[in-house]
Amino acid sequence: MRQDQRPYWVKKAYLKFRYWYAEHFLRPACDELGPHHTIMKPWHVSIDGPNIRIGKCVTLIGEPNTPVKLGVWGREPGQGSITVGDYVLMSPGTRISASDEITIGDSVMMANSVYITDCDWHGIYDRTERSERVMPVHVGNNVWLGDHCVVLKGVTIGENSVVAANAIVTKDVPANVVVAGNPARVVKELDPERGFTTRADFFAEPVKQAEFYDAVDRMVLSKNGFFNWLRAMLFPNQRD
Ligand SMILES: CC(C)(COP(=O)(O)OP(=O)(O)OC[C@H]1O[C@@H](n2cnc3c(N)ncnc32)[C@H](O)[C@@H]1OP(=O)(O)O)[C@@H](O)C(=O)NCCC(=O)NCCS
Repeated sequence: MRQDQRPYWVKKAYLKFRYWYAEHFLRPACDELGPHHTIMKPWHVSIDGPNIRIGKCVTLIGEPNTPVKLGVWGREPGQGSITVGDYVLMSPGTRISASDEITIGDSVMMANSVYITDCDWHGIYDRTERSERVMPVHVGNNVWLGDHCVVLKGVTIGENSVVAANAIVTKDVPANVVVAGNPARVVKELDPERGFTTRADFFAEPVKQAEFYDAVDRMVLSKNGFFNWLRAMLFPNQRD
């Protein structure tokens, strides 16, 4: 379908169900889940383990083959944590696996299939043992992690920095730079004097923003008929 053929009320019902699902199945999995979340296809988001805190206005996008996965597997029961700030975006395929501690700042954007871990999980010489080499990972405010990049144990990424697509980050990244490659190296300095527009700006007034999108949906979808929507699903044509 090239256009959204759903009647307004069908979309509203879908969004209500989606919200209910996230509240019913994902909220209990978190120690904290802030208000105004947008969790798309929450049935493809998995949150496992203790001490997982997520701030307000988070956007999580689950997809069937690329679910979003947050997991804490501490060294002892109840140990380990993942702390996610406000206004964070996690695209399909994002995986965050913590043994001890991973913190994600406010307004961090993660593109598809980003992987962040604070542990190697297996010993280099004894592959059957759990690795003791664990070092916390801290991702600063307003960091942008590009498509398929990997952030490994012990890394701190300074605020506003950008990690290029497919980069493997093995060492600390200063603030206000672009890093790329494997292992990631600084390829560009950013000018913080120019200022950054962030997801915190975008979500400054979440209630008003939700009302705005609802008004747009009402305007665009209100002329869609129920039977035409069914017809378009079962017998689509190029005009759909
Ligand atoms: C990080 C990024 C945004 C930087 O873009 P940019 O500021 O225009 O950077 P440039 O193209 O000037 O690249 C600077 C240098 O880094 C290199 N570089 C850029 N991206 C790279 C990558 N992914 N891997 C390796 N090297 C890369 C460039 O070749 C260039 O090297 P040079 O100075 O020797 O010529 C961009 O390279 C990128 O990775 N985009 C993908 C973003 C993404 O994942 N989006 C998904 C939706 S959220």
